[in-house]
Amino acid sequence: MKRLRMGVIGVGHLGKEHARILSTMPDVELVGVADPHSAQAEAVALRCGTRAFPGHQQMAPLVDAVVLAAPTFAHHAVASDLLSRGVAVLVEKPLTADLAQAEELVGLAERTKTILQVGHIERFNPAFEAMQQMPLQPKYITSERCSGFSGRSTDVGVVFDLMIHDLDLVMALVGSPVRTVEALGAAVLGGCEDLAQARLTFVNGCVADVSASRVHPVPVRRMQIWSAEGFVGADFAHRKLSLMQPAEHLRQGRMDSRRLDGGTAASLKAELFGRHLQMREVDCEAGDQLTRELQDFIRCVHTGDRPRVDGRAGRDAVALACRILDSMTAHRWDGAEDGPAGPLRLPAPLGTLFTNEAREAA
Ligand SMILES: NC(=O)c1ccc[n+]([C@@H]2O[C@H](COP(=O)([O-])OP(=O)(O)OC[C@H]3O[C@@H](n4cnc5c(N)ncnc54)[C@H](O)[C@@H]3O)[C@@H](O)[C@H]2O)c1
Repeated sequence: MKRLRMGVIGVGHLGKEHARILSTMPDVELVGVADPHSAQAEAVALRCGTRAFPGHQQMAPLVDAVVLAAPTFAHHAVASDLLSRGVAVLVEKPLTADLAQAEELVGLAERTKTILQVGHIERFNPAFEAMQQMPLQPKYITSERCSGFSGRSTDVGVVFDLMIHDLDLVMALVGSPVRTVEALGAAVLGGCEDLAQARLTFVNGCVADVSASRVHPVPVRRMQIWSAEGFVGADFAHRKLSLMQPAEHLRQGRMDSRRLDGGTAASLKAELFGRHLQMREVDCEAGDQLTRELQDFIRCVHTGDRPRVDGRAGRDAVALACRILDSMTAHRWDGAEDGPAGPLRLPAPLGTLFTNEAREAA
């Protein structure tokens, strides 16, 4: 098969990793990397044995497909120019900064019959893939995605930066439209929300509580799913699943904990986890997610298949993120019409939780 001529646009923190991986793929010719920060473009080009371009326009006529890893505010302008030239684009998440822009890109990709994929990389997490193979009907989901402040993606708040990963995962798992959204959030570092919490209720009855923080001392990426089939706990950072399912006698409703004789009650207590509730820990394989995401993109460009995370999925995640931000903005902290509301207008603090002296003494 002919080598795919590819480029990477925006080679900062993430784009340089895309370029590194593409430069090692035998079925890809890495034509170049583009970044207005010329020293960065040249350093990455040198490391990857390719050319540096000042912008995507100079590279566009030379490539079949690109990865777009510029900041979110630039996604719409760059991706629309490339899609209208028939260049396939893998846009890093979030697809765009607003819904109108996302709709435009989806329409453009469909009209020009050009592949548009969105970098919701957790869909390629082996723990998520393993979960999707299970006969699961999620009825209640909680997810938590937390990190310290990276200093990047400051053009968006934590909903578009981190929570959007879980919005995409939850929608992929539930497979039903979202009926209602209730959210709240707070800016800690100023400008945009750094903490966010949303309750989503789906048309099929599933409820999801999704939370994200980018001012958290330790990184966390986990999800819990409650379903009639059992419980799944996913640790996406360590690619581990903790499964628990009721044993056959519980599935068939042959036990009533109110009517147990003494011996059975004692055995229930001692053997709850094992005999009655069966447990299993699964370590999922440790393949590199970014490589797998890129391989899927390249395959779709060759075959014309629909990507696992296509433009519509990226658009749906943006649409849900916008609903969350609207609900968050309307949240009234004191319940009063004229009181503080939204992530930027918090109630005035009553005082400090502890003094500097207490902190230093600890
Ligand atoms: N999938 C993930 O898990 C994940 C993780 C991190 C970042 N991201 C996404 O990747 C994108 C980039 O994030 P980052 O952390 O690498 O940011 P970054 O700031 O480290 O890098 C962005 C780079 O893009 C360049 N740039 C700016 N405008 C440009 C333009 N018009 N054309 C080309 N390049 C331009 C900048 O000079 C910079 O080098 C964001 O959309 C972010 O949300 C996704």
